[in-house]
Amino acid sequence: MASPAPSSAQNPLTQLTLDELRQRSSVKWRLHTPDVLPLWVAEMDVPLAPPVADALRRAVDLGDTGYPHGTAYAEALGDFAARRWGWHDFRVEHTTVVPDVMMGVVEVLRLVTDPGDAVVVCSPVYPPFYAFVSHAGRQVIEAPLGPDLRMDPAALDEAFRRARTHGRRPAFLLCNPHNPTGVVHRRDELETVAELAGRHGLRVISDEIHAPLVLPGTHFTPYLTVAGAENAFALVSASKAWNLAGLKAALAVAGPRAAADLGRMPEEVSHGPSHLGIIAHTAAFHAGESWLDLLLDGLDSNRALLATLLAEHLPSVTHHRPEGTYLAWLDCTGLGIATEQPVGGPGMVSDVAGPAKVFLDHARVALSSGHVFGTGGAGFVRLNFATSPEILTDAVTRMGRAVDASLSAG
Ligand SMILES: Cc1ncc(COP(=O)(O)O)c(C=O)c1O
Repeated sequence: MASPAPSSAQNPLTQLTLDELRQRSSVKWRLHTPDVLPLWVAEMDVPLAPPVADALRRAVDLGDTGYPHGTAYAEALGDFAARRWGWHDFRVEHTTVVPDVMMGVVEVLRLVTDPGDAVVVCSPVYPPFYAFVSHAGRQVIEAPLGPDLRMDPAALDEAFRRARTHGRRPAFLLCNPHNPTGVVHRRDELETVAELAGRHGLRVISDEIHAPLVLPGTHFTPYLTVAGAENAFALVSASKAWNLAGLKAALAVAGPRAAADLGRMPEEVSHGPSHLGIIAHTAAFHAGESWLDLLLDGLDSNRALLATLLAEHLPSVTHHRPEGTYLAWLDCTGLGIATEQPVGGPGMVSDVAGPAKVFLDHARVALSSGHVFGTGGAGFVRLNFATSPEILTDAVTRMGRAVDASLSAG
């Protein structure tokens, strides 16, 4: 049966049935067989926000499917950033459109580093940070997160020092908020990053794709608003918060002392994003805020539900309550399942080993396997809770049953 037409006053996470979701052809729904509940890749189980759907429909009706033009995306982001985060000195002229966040990261790396230079990342982190940096011919150096899953200044200091010895123009690729832990870096933590980066001569590139997804109780700090970040870059996009990964577009934003570097970005990079992507992202930042607030309320209650479900069904699995994103980073080391260490660096996003393999094989729940997130990831799984409370409940219940069965069998 079809679910009711989406109402603007409803939780976006409760509007689609499992049958409707299974009709989707994106990787989340097609990588596994239909008996698997997919709680892995960062796609959300929501319909499009009505203002985004309206903007796309209008473009299709007009046949407005040519090349993009103008700065509407940056203007919409600038207004949103001022309203939401108090980022008042956002300058549209210090931005450029890029095909997506990861391509934007690579293009900014090309501006501020040379082949063979080091790029520091805080592990465990979003696996493409390794893949894209290596593919761009740069070398990854890890600065592992501390035991509280927050950035560790001593580890950063050491990694920045090593990065300097590896090449002329090193960089730090910051994940703000952090995927997979859901940590939202505080202003004082970001000031420490800026101070260390300044001292060691690293350029900072801040991936802020999850910025609109900061959950109630926490505040997002744009890196470029931090003292000492004037020569840094941020990559921002509507793609995670409004579920627009299939509508490619993102913005690279330069701090005032990085604007000249951004000016060297080859014009052809701005030919990468799609016109429909820019239309959708612009509508999201311009008119998608009340939908976003409903989503954040839904994610907040799923975050609480997940904690309750884990306590009931998987009491030996622990996690830090995520402050942002819709990702929960579950420590499964207490389950006693053998974990696989990455060989020669983290693997593909869809590689599955250790606890994630047990949950896939025995619970038919697909999660992201911790080992692909780099050092500190083995023995963990990342769970995407941007789904309905029913699917979340079914998934964690099945995971608990699978563990109980394997314990009684073993
Ligand atoms: C931290 C982070 N950066 C980048 C991306 C991918 O963004 P894009 O598709 O715009 O490259 C994701 C997707 O989940 C992400 O979590």
